[in-house]
Amino acid sequence: MSQLRFCWPNGRTALEHCTLEVSRPGLWMLVGGNGSGKSTLLRVLAGLLAPSGGSIACSSTPALVFQNPDHQLLLPSCGSDLQLSLPPELDERQRRHAVQQALALVGLAGLEQRPIHTLSGGQKQRLAIAGAVASGASLLLLDEPTALLDPSSQEEILALLRRLTSDTTRPLTALWVTHRLEELEHCDGAALMQHGSVGPWQHGGSLRRRLAPPRGALQGGGAKR
Ligand SMILES: Nc1ncnc2c1ncn2[C@@H]1O[C@H](COP(=O)(O)OP(=O)(O)O)[C@@H](O)[C@H]1O
Ligand SMILES: [Mg+2]
Repeated sequence: MSQLRFCWPNGRTALEHCTLEVSRPGLWMLVGGNGSGKSTLLRVLAGLLAPSGGSIACSSTPALVFQNPDHQLLLPSCGSDLQLSLPPELDERQRRHAVQQALALVGLAGLEQRPIHTLSGGQKQRLAIAGAVASGASLLLLDEPTALLDPSSQEEILALLRRLTSDTTRPLTALWVTHRLEELEHCDGAALMQHGSVGPWQHGGSLRRRLAPPRGALQGGGAKR
């Protein structure tokens, strides 16, 4: 994507001179202060918003994963919700198999009948990720997917994305927006977003140290501008 620009109808420019290239599958992270344009960028990449200028060249099918899984899980049971994500051309037997596989992929094997409201926050987020993968997407756009989770669920989601994006049998690219600087240690590359544009890819740990205040006293505070 090159020189993207996006203006909201109220005239507010959210993206400007926004250029980003992801050259290979993996877990890529974007960090930046409130209002720097991260969510807008993911929505433009997902095709939910049309850019006001610039171009997107993307060969992967995108799927968004929101901060709050309750905003994207629609049907009452895990199995029925996943059915909704599957490509329409599958027959009944293939659909059952795809649902089983998607649940197993995210560590929820056997929970087809489980009501979604009985899942923990971390399990719901894993189900949302299963749906994104089952839809056939090869580009996952994750908007602060761990912001509402407790530390152990947060680690589970990170480990899941690490595993999914390093599986060479199914090349998957994840673009993960975070405000938790410690997550930068786990990515293949990280970039700082400021004033609607994305900086160069950097080593995640180095960017974390650049942004973190001395002695890491204020968690996440270094990214706020
Ligand atoms: N629906 C909207 N209408 C108008 N302006 C918006 C809307 N959503 C976000 N913005 C503005 O666009 C800019 C980028 O916001 P956003 O992409 O949500 O940033 P981030 O996700 O980095 O916090 C901000 O100035 C914000 O106020
Ligand atoms: Mg946001």
